Amino acid sequence: MFTQTAAFYDAIYAARGKDYAGEAESLAGWIRDAMPDATRLLDVGCGTGAHLAEFARLGFSVRGIDADVKMVALARSRLPEVEVEFADMTTFALGERFDAVVSLFGTTAYARIPKHLDAAIARMAEHLAPGGALIVEPFLDATEYRPGVIDAVFVDQPALKIARMSLSKQMGKIGIIDFHYLVTTLQGVERLFERHEVGLFGEATYRAAFTAAGLTFEPLALRASFGRRMYAGRQPP
Ligand SMILES: C[S@@+](CC[C@H](N)C(=O)[O-])C[C@H]1O[C@@H](n2cnc3c(N)ncnc32)[C@H](O)[C@@H]1O
Repeated sequence: MFTQTAAFYDAIYAARGKDYAGEAESLAGWIRDAMPDATRLLDVGCGTGAHLAEFARLGFSVRGIDADVKMVALARSRLPEVEVEFADMTTFALGERFDAVVSLFGTTAYARIPKHLDAAIARMAEHLAPGGALIVEPFLDATEYRPGVIDAVFVDQPALKIARMSLSKQMGKIGIIDFHYLVTTLQGVERLFERHEVGLFGEATYRAAFTAAGLTFEPLALRASFGRRMYAGRQPP
């Protein structure tokens, strides 16, 4: 996954203009409108902990999980007082329930196939308190994703220069994105390569997964950075 490049993740998405603070503020607003007393929040696929830091700033008591050991280490060093577990979204069991579970910026697409998406959504639903809400920001679906798209992002900091180039491919319902990195620090120049494989799940697949997990399903009017959609589901009270 991100094991080779986790250390550069925040710099890349800062260069891209990803608005973690704004996203957390709109989600916190939605959560508190739905559940005025909500305090406990779990981020599944929390990455480097950027959303966790913002939710904590907004008064939530937060926990996170991620399946990439380097991401977990970065989140723990950003938030030493927060519990961040190394765990897989399809199997995790924390022994705690939350008012809100969020899984943002396409984490659920890493399930790759609907059967594993169902397992991940079921695990998330199991961690909701009665009446609690799951909010998922999916990756692109098969109608939005395009193979053969090239992309580049550049980081230009005094002691860190990165060029990340990518080319999208597709095999059936799986999107494959090959990322090539050229990273320059004071230690030297490094070339890195990563392949990400993601399920191009559509709204119907999410609706089926939420429903099978006993949740309601609702596309939200809220949009994340880069215009990405959000889905919400509630546990019965
Ligand atoms: C695109 S990143 C999003 C990270 C973070 N939510 C954000 O908004 O920056 C996807 C994250 O999902 C994590 N991930 C991928 N597969 C996972 C799995 N099976 N269980 C838990 N986390 C997973 C990756 O390690 C990565 O941190």
